Amino acid sequence: MRASREPSGPITLLRAWAAGLLSPAVIRTVVAGAVASVPALYRWLSRGTGGTCSARYCYAVWMRHFVRAVRAGFIRRTPSALAELGPGDSLGIGLAALLSGSERYIALDAVGYASLSRNLEVFDELVQLVSRRAPIPDEREFPRLKPNLDSYAFPSDVLSAGRLERSLAPERLAHLRRALASVVDGGGATGEIRYIAPWDRWKADPSQPVDMVLSQAVLEHADDLEAVYSAQASWLSPGGIVSHQIDFDCHGTAAAWNGHWAYSDITWTLLRGWRPYFINREPYSTHRACLVRQGLEIVEESLQRDDDGVDRALLASRFRQLSEADFTTRGVFLIARKKSPGSAP
Ligand SMILES: C[S@@+](CC[C@H](N)C(=O)[O-])C[C@H]1O[C@@H](n2cnc3c(N)ncnc32)[C@H](O)[C@@H]1O
Repeated sequence: MRASREPSGPITLLRAWAAGLLSPAVIRTVVAGAVASVPALYRWLSRGTGGTCSARYCYAVWMRHFVRAVRAGFIRRTPSALAELGPGDSLGIGLAALLSGSERYIALDAVGYASLSRNLEVFDELVQLVSRRAPIPDEREFPRLKPNLDSYAFPSDVLSAGRLERSLAPERLAHLRRALASVVDGGGATGEIRYIAPWDRWKADPSQPVDMVLSQAVLEHADDLEAVYSAQASWLSPGGIVSHQIDFDCHGTAAAWNGHWAYSDITWTLLRGWRPYFINREPYSTHRACLVRQGLEIVEESLQRDDDGVDRALLASRFRQLSEADFTTRGVFLIARKKSPGSAP
């Protein structure tokens, strides 16, 4: 159901606009954007980026992307090389992949948020979770986390005892722990783990492509989407996949989930303030078009729909032409595959 329809006279629209701007959520957003001019203060006030300071969250995210790709037949085992965009507070999602058997993990962020102590804690907890083949945390523990799975049982058929014996061998764990310490502390790289922020400094080695690129709640923030998708296509081996959960909602900047499309560009610039990144406000069709242009074929798509948003009459002029599908798409989980040379266009 759509929010109640308001009469659309200019005064009514002006009042709705002013009321929206004076809401506590918007005032908080403007203040946070203003203090972002002092990065240390902003980092302290924004209290991290999301969920990756929790090992269970990282485990849940990695396992959901992995299991979805395996069950749909797009990969048969743990990808040997994984790149992740926007890991946030820790590298836990990629560490869970390493513990499941990946050999290389490249963490690529716009801002270097991850701290060594947090990473080591998350690593140790992840070792416990994978070693005891813990069930994947489900909707009861993370009600808003997507994508969902049909079964949250540990995927013992793909992560077999033999495979885990190798990936969790004590000498490998000790090596990964040391590698993590040197990477996060010194901003450097080891054979297994790289952490690069800002990521566009990274010069990928074409002779060492990755099999999978993953992101969780990141691509709605990227300012230059075409460049981000083009980079992903260049990192992947032919047949390799991207697996992304993208959330198109207003991230607390408005009362209605899609209220961010009601702000003019000037208002939006004011709301962003000095933040290093914000929400790009691009609807799903923009992502789809970028994927297609970059030779990435969408092979799985789960849309999260919500038609209980703002009235269309309140949309800013730039968004008034949004298709009904974009207007009601609140999130998507997608997998796309890099076409092999010679495959049909
Ligand atoms: C909401 S946090 C999500 C963090 C983590 N993936 C999670 O699930 O909690 C958004 C992350 O995206 C990163 N980010 C923003 N713009 C980006 C870009 N253009 N490229 C890569 N990462 C970006 C931010 O630095 C931050 O780490």
